[in-house]
Amino acid sequence: MSEVKRHEDIVYLDNASTTRPDPRVINAVTGVLGHDFGNPSSLHRLGARAERLLDESRERVARVINAESGEIYFTSGGTEANNWAIAGTVASRAKDPHIVSTTVEHPSVISMLDHLHEDGWEISLIGVDEEGRVDPDEIMDAVTPDTALVSIMFVQNEIGTIQECREIGRRIRGLGPKRPWFHVDAVQGFARLPIDVKDWGVDLMSMSAHKIHGIKGAGALYIRKGVRLGPLVFGGGQESGLRSGTENMPGIVGFGTACEVWSEDREEVMTRLASFRKRLVDGVRSVFPDAVLHGPEDEGVAPHICHFSFPGLRGESILHALEARDVYVSTGSACSSHKTRPSPVIMALTGNEDEALSAIRFSMSRDTSEEDIDRTVKALDESLRELSAWRRK
Ligand SMILES: Cc1ncc(COP(=O)(O)O)c(C=O)c1O
Repeated sequence: MSEVKRHEDIVYLDNASTTRPDPRVINAVTGVLGHDFGNPSSLHRLGARAERLLDESRERVARVINAESGEIYFTSGGTEANNWAIAGTVASRAKDPHIVSTTVEHPSVISMLDHLHEDGWEISLIGVDEEGRVDPDEIMDAVTPDTALVSIMFVQNEIGTIQECREIGRRIRGLGPKRPWFHVDAVQGFARLPIDVKDWGVDLMSMSAHKIHGIKGAGALYIRKGVRLGPLVFGGGQESGLRSGTENMPGIVGFGTACEVWSEDREEVMTRLASFRKRLVDGVRSVFPDAVLHGPEDEGVAPHICHFSFPGLRGESILHALEARDVYVSTGSACSSHKTRPSPVIMALTGNEDEALSAIRFSMSRDTSEEDIDRTVKALDESLRELSAWRRK
């Protein structure tokens, strides 16, 4: 495998897959690995110090979504949090064997629901419009007295569409005490966009550290006080007995630090990314006028994600042509990008296999600069010319 250049020398626009840990995160993680390596369950001073760091990290994560720190349960990431939200509901509410979700959820939700369907659960997957938006009316129409859970993602990870979680949550809350629980997969919107679990009426929310400049292997599930979710891992009783196992302290402390980093300048960063997204959209259209933008043009889309199809070309070929010019992008979600099958999300949106196979996702982060966008457009122009020339041969 050829060598990867230093990050300063490449343009990295695959941040919806993972982000580069912030230097302040690396510093905090190194501190835990080097000095504060105690186990939070130990009774001596090193243990007490670790426990303090754990509590502080829990508070930092809670603050981002307006939760209480006792409502945050650390996990290994977003996949585990999503699996737990669903499996824990199944364990607690077996008498209500119905779940409502959408056709564009992350595989960590969809494959869990497929598995439950095989086990006899009724699953209603609601479709989306051409911009990837689910209609709250359709969600509510699907809810029955047997519905245990409504699970909706906040920001779609491939195309960036923002779902109306606040509206859906408020309507579910209006159903009264015997209502379904409301789970939000917030992995792509967490820390970047404002979230208020109380105002939105959320019962369960999934988060992940490595999408926000933390490190891989850490995440969290918010469980609203009063929701009696079944445990995920049995053992020594960590995480209030719901998710046993010695805590991943470097990952957790890094996660809390990443939350602090974002809370300092979130709005400023996101305003900057919104202008970069516009610059990128205009640039892509100028070099390939037939490019098809998936998801909303500018309103109702997360500023860090921009997804285009280049009909007639293969996404994978474009990706490698860009890579040869030191620009790193993705053909779809990271989990499915090793398989050359059309993206199920683009298929759900357009039903057009050519568009689904020619898709490229550009995703930005705190590190992205205007120069990165201009370099990307230039590299795209050269790549598309090269690929079109090959096609004509
Ligand atoms: C919307 C969404 N949910 C869940 C996940 C899974 O998160 P993790 O990589 O932390 O397991 C991802 C990762 O791509 C995601 O984008």
